[in-house]
Amino acid sequence: MDALQAILTRRSTRNYLPDAIEPEKLDRILEAARQAPSGGNNQTNHFLVIRSREVIQKLIAITETAFAHMEIEENTYTSLKHAIAASKKGGYVFCYNAPVLIAVANRRDYGNNLADCACAIENMMVAANALDLGSCWINQLRWLNEDQALVDYLRALGMRENERVYGAVIIGYPATESGLPNRNLMAQKGNEITYID
Ligand SMILES: Cc1cc2nc3c(=O)[nH]c(=O)nc-3n(C[C@H](O)[C@H](O)[C@H](O)COP(=O)(O)O)c2cc1C
Repeated sequence: MDALQAILTRRSTRNYLPDAIEPEKLDRILEAARQAPSGGNNQTNHFLVIRSREVIQKLIAITETAFAHMEIEENTYTSLKHAIAASKKGGYVFCYNAPVLIAVANRRDYGNNLADCACAIENMMVAANALDLGSCWINQLRWLNEDQALVDYLRALGMRENERVYGAVIIGYPATESGLPNRNLMAQKGNEITYID
């Protein structure tokens, strides 16, 4: 698959097989992440690559507790509304049983933290597609990136004191009939282009 094809056919996967990703494939995905551009070539992304089911479960439990304590307000972002409502009910899961969750941390005091994290995550998602793996951006850890219980747990996992999570991605083999990711082109309803010649 060439580069443009891998970009154009990348779609989010939200149903995974429990199968582990081969270490060589994961290494290639992380290499793609580390080669992403960064503001001023700062290279301050810190990739927390979580393959332990137990750790993922603990993260789910921490986020559920935090969301359950939040209230839905008139202007609450739709996906966050869902997270709060589902957490209050119990059983909120945001990782879709993927075998790998990569949380991308960066420096709190760095103005390009979110942009650098986004470049790396997009590279990982495109690389995953090229390797016949599914992926999906996961935003819950960013929404809660100042939650003390989450910060403490991520610190125990290796996040540095001056870092916070600005995005995350899950990767794994899609639970589809073909075993391949959905690669349908996305109908466009926005993403306007204005040419100025
Ligand atoms: C910044 C950002 C945050 C996102 N957060 C989530 C998320 O938390 N959970 C999820 O299932 N999908 C999430 N997505 C995936 C989008 O829903 C998805 O990219 C969009 O619907 C387009 O579909 P596609 O990825 O299949 O092209 C996120 C995407 C981006 C770029």
